[in-house]
Amino acid sequence: MAKIIAANWKMNKLRSEAEDVAKVLGQAIRDKKVPADRTIMVFPPYLSLPPVAKALEGCERTLVGAQNFYPEESGAFTGEISLPMIQDAGAHWVLVGHSERRHILMESDEFIAKKTKYALDHGFGVVLCIGETLEEREGGKLNEVLARQISTALEPLPFDVQTLEKSLMIAYEPVWAIGTGKVAGEKEVLEAHGLVKELLGKHSVLPVLYGGSVKPGNAASLLALDNVDGLLVGGASLAAESFLAIINA
Ligand code: PGA
Repeated sequence: MAKIIAANWKMNKLRSEAEDVAKVLGQAIRDKKVPADRTIMVFPPYLSLPPVAKALEGCERTLVGAQNFYPEESGAFTGEISLPMIQDAGAHWVLVGHSERRHILMESDEFIAKKTKYALDHGFGVVLCIGETLEEREGGKLNEVLARQISTALEPLPFDVQTLEKSLMIAYEPVWAIGTGKVAGEKEVLEAHGLVKELLGKHSVLPVLYGGSVKPGNAASLLALDNVDGLLVGGASLAAESFLAIINA
């Protein structure tokens, strides 16, 4: 199966900077300088969606998404953005449940479940992020936290694995490894991904990405691990060179 390599640019880059990186990526993909068994995803800030989508237009196995959205079509939701607006900007995927939205913006499991279902019902693809804090891990709560995050989001979904397989991915991102330079060790990644696949049960065909301090130097060994179907990359995806190195790992 193709490995999925996703870039989450978070709140970084002006439009022209995002466009420049996307153009370099687009050129590399068109020139077949990336392996054929990679699917590439880019999640730029909203304002950069149109130039990034344009720069990557027509690139094979390349998907563009928004980092967030509000689950209503339109209306009095000051500061929010809808799926039709995202679609109009050229993107068809969304990140849901990223730890920064769970822990800084206080999104609950229930709201994340609502957004997951809403996006899938409206024809969007979803990368659903899950992961435990250091406190939860040290308190022996890894299993409980992942089980709760997965079941709350997946239980309301109609079970149609063939459709879901193309439109839903899980990203396991231990909160303590995000942006900290502390990548989870092989043993921890193997254990957590095995657990996630088990907890997914009838949904275990869904791809499970690893995220948290992925760099060009550790990407190949992470991708080689059982049950790691791809990578969600923050900091190291900001420069085209390092993101391409990860794609080529
Ligand atoms: P990082 O972020 O690669 O900078 O640790 C990963 C993420 O938050 O998706």
